[in-house]
Amino acid sequence: MPPLFSNYLLKGLPVKNRIVFPPVVCFHYAGDDGIVIDRNVEHYRQIAAGGPGIVITEATAVLKNGRLAPFQLGIWSDEHIKGMSRIAAAVKKEGAISLLQIHHAGLLTNEQVSPVAKAPSAFASNPRSVALTTEEIDETRQAFIDAASRAQKAGYQGVELHGAHGYLLNQFASSFFNKREDEYGGNFAKSMKLATEIILGIRAVCGNDFIIGYRLGANSPSLEDGIAIAQHLEKTGIDLLHVSHGGSLVNLPRTPPGYEYNWIVYSGSVIKAHAGIPVIVVNEIKTRERAEWLLENNHADFAALARPQLADPDWVTHVKHDEKVNPCLTCKPKCRWFEDSRLCPARKKITIDK
Ligand SMILES: Cc1cc2nc3c(=O)[nH]c(=O)nc-3n(C[C@H](O)[C@H](O)[C@H](O)COP(=O)(O)O)c2cc1C
Repeated sequence: MPPLFSNYLLKGLPVKNRIVFPPVVCFHYAGDDGIVIDRNVEHYRQIAAGGPGIVITEATAVLKNGRLAPFQLGIWSDEHIKGMSRIAAAVKKEGAISLLQIHHAGLLTNEQVSPVAKAPSAFASNPRSVALTTEEIDETRQAFIDAASRAQKAGYQGVELHGAHGYLLNQFASSFFNKREDEYGGNFAKSMKLATEIILGIRAVCGNDFIIGYRLGANSPSLEDGIAIAQHLEKTGIDLLHVSHGGSLVNLPRTPPGYEYNWIVYSGSVIKAHAGIPVIVVNEIKTRERAEWLLENNHADFAALARPQLADPDWVTHVKHDEKVNPCLTCKPKCRWFEDSRLCPARKKITIDK
């Protein structure tokens, strides 16, 4: 069995292969209420039908005033459960493990959703930023725990806490963003206190069988910090680590000479070497061969590919049957899905060819 298509037992749940569809916000699908619409469900049904072993639903807001965009999916109220349950069911019906990424944008909260951006500390480059009070931290912690509980009610097998890309949990964990001098900042243990309390709270409410994953910003702010954060999260009881970047462009890890992947994948593989729980690596993996090399050499337990599966939702099936994939065209300056998925030239090509 090629490594990409070997099974894995994740907390007793069989995962059919090592390919992950990582979280990808579908911009301009949901409205301001954050409620799932048919288009969201159909998108995830198509992706899951394509064959990845794990599908992680996009960054979904735990608080309405902590959204990264006005049209982001939400899980801040019980009204969201019904729509979310349609995505969870569609993904599970196709035989994939269904996880929901839960998210607060912190400093990156969009000005259309809130005049201020609540964060661990005010940050010079964002004049709208305001430090959270201790009471607001309590509310935020509870919002994450409630969000996980709603995800479980909706039928998700677990959640992924968004602790990467410079969003709220990443900001708390990183001394680059967190300048607090109270119990939530000032040293490593204090800067990890919010994430720790959220994880323990979710475990208490959702039970031992519920998967708790964490998308980690590897450079938070250095890779050494990323390793320490990963080890702390493992001790706290998470089940799955997904290594991405930390939003800031300081202390970028250097890849060894001749290394053929970028520093984000490299960081994931270094963290994998220091972790006792499964690790997903991601970013510009692009091809079957590159994913397989990472798995064969024990640099990862899972490989996540976002844009290749956006460009070709049947990417996994095509790879499995040695068929030609419809490649991502690597749009510049950035992926057209950030604007509107209908602008994706690769995806349009599939429609035209059909
Ligand atoms: C349109 C778009 C939306 C994204 N939304 C999210 C998100 O909701 N949460 C997240 O953690 N990462 C998000 N990402 C990052 C992807 O999960 C992934 O890490 C990134 O695309 C690199 O992987 P790739 O090279 O295989 O595309 C997004 C990426 C794209 C292109």
